[in-house]
Amino acid sequence: MRLLVTGGTGQVGEALMRLAPKLGVTVIAPGRADLDLANPGAIKLPDGIDGVINAGAYTAVDKAESEPALAETINGIAPGVLATQAAKRDLPIVQISTDYVFDGTKTEPYLETDPVNPMSVYGRTKETGERAVREANPRHAIMRTSWVYAVHGNNFVKTMLRLGKERDQLKVVADQTGAPTLADDIAAAAVLMAKALTASNAGTYHYTAEGAVTWHGFAQAIWAKAGLRLGRQPKIDPIPTSGYPTPARRPKNSRLDCSKTVAAFGVVRRPWERALDETLAILLEEKP
Ligand SMILES: NC(=O)c1ccc[n+]([C@@H]2O[C@H](COP(=O)([O-])OP(=O)(O)OC[C@H]3O[C@@H](n4cnc5c(N)ncnc54)[C@H](OP(=O)(O)O)[C@@H]3O)[C@@H](O)[C@H]2O)c1
Repeated sequence: MRLLVTGGTGQVGEALMRLAPKLGVTVIAPGRADLDLANPGAIKLPDGIDGVINAGAYTAVDKAESEPALAETINGIAPGVLATQAAKRDLPIVQISTDYVFDGTKTEPYLETDPVNPMSVYGRTKETGERAVREANPRHAIMRTSWVYAVHGNNFVKTMLRLGKERDQLKVVADQTGAPTLADDIAAAAVLMAKALTASNAGTYHYTAEGAVTWHGFAQAIWAKAGLRLGRQPKIDPIPTSGYPTPARRPKNSRLDCSKTVAAFGVVRRPWERALDETLAILLEEKP
């Protein structure tokens, strides 16, 4: 299967490219110069592909608050163009989406059927993209995930490692809960979906690692391992969201119920701690 992947330089896109041989697919990943999501009118899917995974997005959650039009074009409009062009050739599309389409007020993990209520520009534009894909292509999977990290790219794990090397004390938000999810696992699940997608199993699917933790607990887990390797241990203090003001509001509860996805596609979910261990083993190979 030949898959067109957008966002090949991002965390999930890079994982898709790297893991393609293992996942039994060929990935074609044009860069921005050849496929610019900010210019949907110029998007043209290449010939000879069997499906699309849209892993490209405007992901700067806070910056989006001051660039809503650009975020809307990339996250809200471009996915619909990709989906429309794929539909004309009866090709499946996997649209990667986010827990930020929810407001986080539910106390249990979110189901795919729960009403969306995004609280940020980023969340609203991603939700617009979900609808556009659903409407344009009967062979779609909207795959919502959360708290993405990878060896490649910028993410919370790498930020915590850097800050913990520089400082003796870190203050980390302890009242937002979610499942940190390794980009490699998202890539594997997205390919499984792309391969199995028909018009009858099309729909919205949640996929994250197993388990849940707060950002504070995640930082503690990172440094529990990094501390042993690097011989230092920053103090990690819990703070409320109000103690770390950001332009965009984020859901307090980001937990996604993934049972529908497991039942439909047989995807593998690893405990978040196991994927983190694997990632840290690579990141900490570097000399302190
Ligand atoms: N990161 C998270 O915590 C998180 C959580 C839930 C869901 N998601 C979703 O997961 C997906 C993958 O996220 P990620 O973390 O892998 O993102 P990422 O690392 O921030 O990468 C974003 C990718 O999108 C590309 N992109 C941005 N604007 C573009 C444009 N105008 N034209 C073409 N490409 C453009 C970027 O290309 P450049 O390198 O050229 O900028 C990059 O390859 C996204 O749909 C995101 O919304 C992410």
